[in-house]
Amino acid sequence: FFPKSAGSGAGGLTAKDALGNDVRASKWLETHKKGDRSLTQGLKADATYLIINDQNEIEKYGLNAVCTHLGCVVPWNSSENKFMCPCHGSQYNFQGKVVRGPAPLSLALAHCDINDDMVVFTPWTEKDFRTGLDPWWA
Ligand code: FES
Repeated sequence: FFPKSAGSGAGGLTAKDALGNDVRASKWLETHKKGDRSLTQGLKADATYLIINDQNEIEKYGLNAVCTHLGCVVPWNSSENKFMCPCHGSQYNFQGKVVRGPAPLSLALAHCDINDDMVVFTPWTEKDFRTGLDPWWA
């Protein structure tokens, strides 16, 4: 279950690649395949993971890469199928849910939609589908 997207209205922001260019879905999908989690620049200029799901589509949510412990950017470890923070060892599952501390909270979510081939993030203000709780970041 994923809550409906908030669309591209207020607060929407086009994802940027490492060079600062807008991310185009068609182009991104040429070089990023199923299971890929790669960093883009998202809301508030935070490093944000774009996820390619099992259908080879861009997932409807992105993950803020900032560790909820002390703010390191958390790398994706594909062989472990987890995000693993190099700073103090926190771990997050493939959806960014915290599975090992010291991080106290899961990685923040953002809606991710394709509008006219542009990848657009919007703030996630609904319940966190991973925990069923209100979002701690909203
Ligand atoms: Fe990630 Fe401390 S900043 S575990």
